[in-house]
Amino acid sequence: MTKTTDFIPQEYTQKLTEKGSFQWSAPSNIALVKYWGKKENQIPANPSISFTLNNCKTITKLEFEPKKSTSKDFAFDLFLDGKPKEDFKPKMQKFFERIEVYLPFLKDYHFTISTENTFPHSSGIASSASGMGAMAVNFMSIEKLFNPEMTEEYFWQKASFLARLGSGSACRSIKGSVVVWGETESIENSSDLFGVEFLETIHPNFQNYQDTILLVDKGEKVVSSTVGHELMHNHPFAQQRFEQAHDNLARMKQILTDGNLQKFVELVESEALTLHAMMMTSMPYFILMKPNTLEIINKIWKYRQQTDIQVCFTLDAGANVHILYPNNSKDKVLQFIKNELIVYCQNQQYICDEIGIGSFKLN
Ligand code: PMV
Repeated sequence: MTKTTDFIPQEYTQKLTEKGSFQWSAPSNIALVKYWGKKENQIPANPSISFTLNNCKTITKLEFEPKKSTSKDFAFDLFLDGKPKEDFKPKMQKFFERIEVYLPFLKDYHFTISTENTFPHSSGIASSASGMGAMAVNFMSIEKLFNPEMTEEYFWQKASFLARLGSGSACRSIKGSVVVWGETESIENSSDLFGVEFLETIHPNFQNYQDTILLVDKGEKVVSSTVGHELMHNHPFAQQRFEQAHDNLARMKQILTDGNLQKFVELVESEALTLHAMMMTSMPYFILMKPNTLEIINKIWKYRQQTDIQVCFTLDAGANVHILYPNNSKDKVLQFIKNELIVYCQNQQYICDEIGIGSFKLN
C-alpha cells in the first residue's frame, strides 16, 4: 500500500539551472457520493466518488527560475486573468508549506503563477478543486525534469496527492472521468492519500453524461467548507454517515457498471440531501440552500414524474444546483431548464458542462 513517505523524493538525478515554464488545464469535478468531514492532514473521513467535468476548468501557467537571493522564504507572484491577485496568496503560501517536504526544490526557485478559470469569476462555483489540481500537475512536470525516470503512475498519483493537500476534493480533478478518493472495500487500490480512476467499464448510459450548473447564488457562503468539515467532529450522526458513504459507494459502483438510471437518480439525490442534512444538524447548524434551490428541486421532481426522463440534481456546499442527465435527453432537458428553471438563477446564469477526462498539458 502506498504511504505518505513514498512521495518524499530520493536525491534527484538531474540538476535544473535554467528557467522554464509549464501550462496545464485541470477540470472541476462534481461528487456523486460526497466527502464531508476530514481527519488531520486532509485525510477524508469517508470515501467519495465524482464525475470529472469538461468545461469548468482552471488553466494555470507556472514559470520558474532559480532564485537569485538566498532568502529562506517561498518566492512567488500570483496573477488571475493577468492581474496580480494578492488575496489568493495566503492560501497558496499554505499550499507551498504543506507540500514542501514532497517537493524539496520549492525554495530554490521563484515562481510566477498565472491562472484563469473558464467559468465566470465569483460564480459561486468552487475554483479550488480545479485551481489546486492545475498547480499540482504543473509541479509534477517540474519534478519530472529533476527525475526523468519517474513512472507515469507515480506522476499521476503524486499529482493527486499534492492536489489533495491544497484542497481535499482537488485530488479528484487530476485523471479519469470517474474518480474515487478514500479507502473503501469495494474499490481495489482506493486510497485516502489520492484519487484513483474508476477502472470498471462504465455503462454507455453514462457516456457524455450532462451537467448543467444553475447559478442560484453567487455570494460568499455563510459557512466555508473548511468550517463545515470541522463540524463533523462531534456531530451526532457522523459515524452513521461515514458508514453510509462506504455502502453508497459500493452501490454507485454497481450502478455505474450496470447503467440503472433510476437507481442513479435516487442515490445521487439522496447523497446531496444527506450532505445538506449534515450541515443542518451540525452545532452550530447552518443552511446553504436558498429558496430558489428548493424551487428548482421541486420542479425537477415534477418534470421527472411527468416525462420519465431520468434527470436529477446534486448540490455542493452551496446553493447552486447541478442538474445531471443522460446525453440522449439533452435537447428536452435543456428546453425544460430554459423554460422553467433559469428564472431561479441569478442573472439567469447557467453553465452547460458534461463528463470530461481530467487534466492535460497545454505546452
Ligand atoms: O474539497 P473541499 O474541502 O472544498 O470539500 C468539498 C466538499 C463537497 O464539495 C461538499 C463534496 C465533495 O465531495 O466534493
